[in-house]
Amino acid sequence: MNNYSEKFEKMRIAGNLAARTLDMLTDHVKPGTTTDFIDKIGYEFIRDNGGFSAPLFYRGFKKSLCTSLNHVVCHGIPSDRILNETDILNIDVTAIVDNHYGDTSRMFCVGNTPIKANNLINATYESMMRAINILKPGIKLGDIGYEIQSYVEEKGFSVVRDFCGHGINTVFHEYPNVLHYGKKNTGIELVSGMTFTIEPMINSGKYDVKILADGWTAVTKDKSLSAQFEHTVGITENGYEIFTKSAKDYSKPPYK
Ligand code: MF3
Ligand code: CO
Ligand code: CO
Repeated sequence: MNNYSEKFEKMRIAGNLAARTLDMLTDHVKPGTTTDFIDKIGYEFIRDNGGFSAPLFYRGFKKSLCTSLNHVVCHGIPSDRILNETDILNIDVTAIVDNHYGDTSRMFCVGNTPIKANNLINATYESMMRAINILKPGIKLGDIGYEIQSYVEEKGFSVVRDFCGHGINTVFHEYPNVLHYGKKNTGIELVSGMTFTIEPMINSGKYDVKILADGWTAVTKDKSLSAQFEHTVGITENGYEIFTKSAKDYSKPPYK
């Protein structure tokens, strides 16, 4: 036992529900489905399993999850938009259970994904996992950003600057900001008991983004493709725990 074991137990439960929601949605990501339908069944699944969708009513957001297609970087709003063969889609789910938040997102390929999009998705996933793998007490926040930035820039991709990971617990977005770019050995030191997200947004073109008139949808300025994955993690005595691991071992597409 330690002073954060109760908190971690609750983060585990919330994180697990968010991950199971993405697991459940996987088979529904196919040509002909609307993002509104994904939103609806995501909402119901979370509700029926004892949780609530955190995005709903969050700062005026009117849907239960975010669906970000192609050049949408994040915060895409579910709509009557029908998925088609060449789309790549990020679904971002945040579940609240017993007042604690679990926040996770994955990329989905609707049909036959162009090789360039696939490379972007793979690099984005790998950058997140590389950053997670170094987590332990004593490393610095900047080490996380360095890990992601150095990996994806080497491949010719860019790291979005305008959004970052965040502390998360009984509050959705909390100190500290977890930047996905940075320098080794800079920033605050990680200590056991900390809980936060790592959620790199990686663009195939330049890193600049703009927000559409709806006030939410963030898109790449140059209309290049963007990908993102997100896990909620906790720092343990000698490493880390991922609270939002898939129960079906889904990591990156193809999911089977
Ligand atoms: N889930 C997003 C994150 O990773 C936040 C979504 S807020 C919303 O932090 F209102 F856009 F849903
Ligand atoms: Co988040
Ligand atoms: Co999220």
